[in-house]
Amino acid sequence: MVQSECRLLRGLLGIICLLPVCICAEPDLCVSLKAIRTNLNATLRRRFMKMNFPINYTIQVHYEEVFRLRNISRLNMSIDEPLQQRDLQDLWLWISHQGIKRVLRVLPERHPTRTKYLSNLENLFRRFEEVYNQKNPRDEERVLPERIDNIWERLTDQDYEGWKSVTPKSILDNCYRTMLCLFKECFSKEDDNYDYCKVLNWSNGTKTT
Ligand SMILES: *[C@@H]1O[C@H](CO)[C@@H](O)[C@H](O)[C@H]1NC(C)=O
Ligand SMILES: *[C@@H]1O[C@H](CO)[C@@H](O)[C@H](O)[C@H]1NC(C)=O
Ligand SMILES: *[C@@H]1O[C@H](CO)[C@@H](O)[C@H](O)[C@H]1NC(C)=O
Ligand SMILES: *[C@@H]1O[C@H](CO)[C@@H](O)[C@H](O)[C@H]1NC(C)=O
Ligand SMILES: *[C@@H]1O[C@H](CO)[C@@H](O)[C@H](O)[C@H]1NC(C)=O
Ligand SMILES: *[C@@H]1O[C@H](CO)[C@@H](O)[C@H](O)[C@H]1NC(C)=O
Repeated sequence: MVQSECRLLRGLLGIICLLPVCICAEPDLCVSLKAIRTNLNATLRRRFMKMNFPINYTIQVHYEEVFRLRNISRLNMSIDEPLQQRDLQDLWLWISHQGIKRVLRVLPERHPTRTKYLSNLENLFRRFEEVYNQKNPRDEERVLPERIDNIWERLTDQDYEGWKSVTPKSILDNCYRTMLCLFKECFSKEDDNYDYCKVLNWSNGTKTT
């Protein structure tokens, strides 16, 4: 009897001791996103995605892989089939990662943009993807709004024909701006009325470019 109570107590203590560990060790979405943000700062984007390339260098992407703030406001507009924040975040993640992969594909093995920057950035995206999928398990039952579904269809279409030329830097510029808009909770600014989702607020603000 005493023994079993003892065991029970030990069991409870075990749980109590484990709890804080679980909470602390839980990978945090914002922590990984902030690591990505740090690596996407303006200096680094300019150095590795612009200065390291020939002038006016472009790569080919699908039209749907151009994902900007304007796309977000347009997609978010319709009230017939309201979006979930998640629909846009899923797109952001896939498109951003795809953009990085496309640039990596054209870079020679020893190119400094690859070795000093993009490989690392891609790893950060992989890590984020893991946490993100773990925290937002997909609802297989849910029917996506048609306009989102159409985008996915074209994004993943193997026989896609409509290619667009973009600069490597623009891929990460768009990735950066849309990230701040779509994951506001991680990047909220207390000090002013900056709205990361507003194109206008970006046009002449110097501090967040
Ligand atoms: C961007 O990060 C680099 C390296 O960490 C740092 O030297 C630079 O000052 C940062 N630039 C901006 C604009 O924050
Ligand atoms: C790069 O593009 C700009 C604008 O399209 C053009 O004015 C410039 O001549 C181009 N530079 C080179 C070196 O091709
Ligand atoms: C974003 O808008 C451009 C045209 O402005 C379009 O070509 C592209 O497909 C849109 N991207 C997405 C993901 O809807
Ligand atoms: C989309 O629209 C909803 C409702 O108007 C709004 O609450 C939300 O902030 C918008 N999301 C984005 C990313 O603009
Ligand atoms: C951002 O835009 C809103 C309206 O579009 C404006 O009220 C606000 O002052 C702007 N903030 C900055 C920092 O430009
Ligand atoms: C941004 O530029 C627009 C016009 O280009 C101007 O009307 C607005 O006052 C500027 N906003 C800030 C915060 O400088």
